[in-house]
Amino acid sequence: MISQETIQQILSRIDIIDIVGSFVKLKKRGVNYLGLCPFHNEKSPSFTVSPTKEIYKCFGCGKSGNSIGFLMELEKYSYVEALKWLANKYNVEIEETEVSPEVKLTQQTADSLYIINSFAQKYFSDSLFNTEEGQDVAMSYLKERGFREEIIRKFQIGYNLSGGKSLATAATAAQYNPENLKKSGLIVNRDDRGMLDNYRGRIIFPIHNQSGKVLGFGARVIKTNDKAPKYINTPENEIYVKSKILYGSYFARMAIDKADECLLVEGYTDVVSLHQAGVENVVASGGTSLTPDQLRLIKKYTNNLTIIYDGDGAGVKAALRGMDLALEEGLNVRLVLIPDKEDPDSYVNKVGAEAFREFVRVNKKDFILFQLEVSLKDAGNDSSQKSQIVNQIAETLSKITKTEEFTRRQDYIKQVSEILKIEESGLNNLVNKFIRDKVTKDEQRSFRSEQPALVIPDGMPEETPMDEVLNLFNRDEMNERAMVRSLLEFGVKKWNEEQSVAEYLFTQIAENELDKMMENKELVNIYELYKTWYNEGLNPNAKSFLYHEDPSINHLVITIMDSNTEISPKWKEHFEGHIPTREDLFREEVTSTLNYLKLRKIKKLIEENQRELEHATNQDEQMLFLQTHQHLKQMEIDLTRQLGTVIIK
Ligand code: CTP
Ligand code: MN
Repeated sequence: MISQETIQQILSRIDIIDIVGSFVKLKKRGVNYLGLCPFHNEKSPSFTVSPTKEIYKCFGCGKSGNSIGFLMELEKYSYVEALKWLANKYNVEIEETEVSPEVKLTQQTADSLYIINSFAQKYFSDSLFNTEEGQDVAMSYLKERGFREEIIRKFQIGYNLSGGKSLATAATAAQYNPENLKKSGLIVNRDDRGMLDNYRGRIIFPIHNQSGKVLGFGARVIKTNDKAPKYINTPENEIYVKSKILYGSYFARMAIDKADECLLVEGYTDVVSLHQAGVENVVASGGTSLTPDQLRLIKKYTNNLTIIYDGDGAGVKAALRGMDLALEEGLNVRLVLIPDKEDPDSYVNKVGAEAFREFVRVNKKDFILFQLEVSLKDAGNDSSQKSQIVNQIAETLSKITKTEEFTRRQDYIKQVSEILKIEESGLNNLVNKFIRDKVTKDEQRSFRSEQPALVIPDGMPEETPMDEVLNLFNRDEMNERAMVRSLLEFGVKKWNEEQSVAEYLFTQIAENELDKMMENKELVNIYELYKTWYNEGLNPNAKSFLYHEDPSINHLVITIMDSNTEISPKWKEHFEGHIPTREDLFREEVTSTLNYLKLRKIKKLIEENQRELEHATNQDEQMLFLQTHQHLKQMEIDLTRQLGTVIIK
């Protein structure tokens, strides 16, 4: 983990104009900067960056966020990767917090594996280009299949000589750790013959991660007649996790973004051939059905997934599996089948890039409807199977639950009922029943786990002013927000000779146990986190949270800092013309939020006392409760009076 000090250092140097400006040409327009949006194709600029708010927003496609969000969106970095990029840019040395010995070992192994893979990749390239065997056996084969030199270099395709020990010898000479060499899958240990190359006589396809580092390899035989498996792939290890890998994603990411569509094929050669033909928005799954992690990877780039498989392969069946998940994630899935026992690689080589593209365009079938057709064909005239199909498709459609996809679901219901020749309203009811069942289940689950987080209600336009959103919440919620806001805004200011505002709030809140009064647990989290950071000697403020890894936290902080900052009219009268700023009023603000929390606490105590009073068993007890009641009532009156002068609007 990167230490909080490092993060603060990075954040203090962030200049959003500088960061976004590294990727987008920006021109100054008034207080903001304007440029062409990097997230969608546009001719006139609608992408604005605000240096004061430290956010970007595109009025064309609606994307917006802070500088870290920008890097995560554009470069598909994780939060930590984005921080590392910034640290590098601003020369901040990264200080990592202590990690457990196991985690450390895993990281070290991972680092070693990357180094070994990089070494092997260069070694294989060299064997392909610069040895006689490489040229005669491997290059001639690749050329025969139509791969040109530039694409071979781009995908870093290589060759492992057939001798049996060439890589093993080179790697041993370079003093790589034998354990890690074994883990990498490049070398096997034979008792009788020692260390041996595992991919002898095979063409090597390196598999890259999102930033171009080599995770592992796919090694293909050249002569298909022998009994050996067609491909040998890297075994699962610290960096090669098959379920998270999409072959070609490193080379496809820009094109996928541009086309707003990701093509999915089965094999390495399909990806390389399509790329060579100029179809670059393509990745491969390796023939198995897509995993949730792979779907998520695709979803980072686009909502449109087009699966291109050969017509009668087992691959289609595999692809059909697990697609409900894609629907839940809101992906539009389409399917194209390549005819006549061709695969995308052979087909694009046969008909050329233009015809290929056209074929995909014309033959793209909606995935759900395709699935329906397939199962209808299988069912034939069996009526029980047919009713099963109706149920299945209704359940599938019930997975489309996002509000913005309502019309999409209704369109499907219409089309499906036509295909199945059933009443549209009947299918509609069935789909709704599945949705209801699911909602009930989810509710039961969340009821058990935790309170729901504060969210903007469905159907409320994104552009709704924050005040309106806030008005939906009750005063208690508003007050809790005001308290956290005081902390974020004024925490480091002096409260009195001894204490800062933050310290004053900490003691007041602790003494009166006011944090226990707060209902919004996310706000309590922010409060606690602030306290931790403050006590570590950092000077936290809203910005520290704006860049927090947890999006719910930074979203909440943005909402809080964006809420109504108008001063109560009472103050305007009081100051006779001079309208005070929040700065002028920070003492009043801190006091009034504290008082409000105290008031809530007292009201609660009064209620409790009342209950006890009702159950009092003798006169002495009753007296005691009555006295307490009066005492509490007086405190309530005092507090209310104070609140009357400074009222949170
Ligand atoms: N695959 C694998 N192991 C195998 C066979 C296939 O891992 N023994 C994976 C590979 O990722 C391969 C994909 O499944 O790329 C598709 O298999 P296939 O169509 O047989 O291979 P291609 O890559 O198309 O190879 P070629 O065009 O040379 O036949
Ligand atoms: Mn093939």
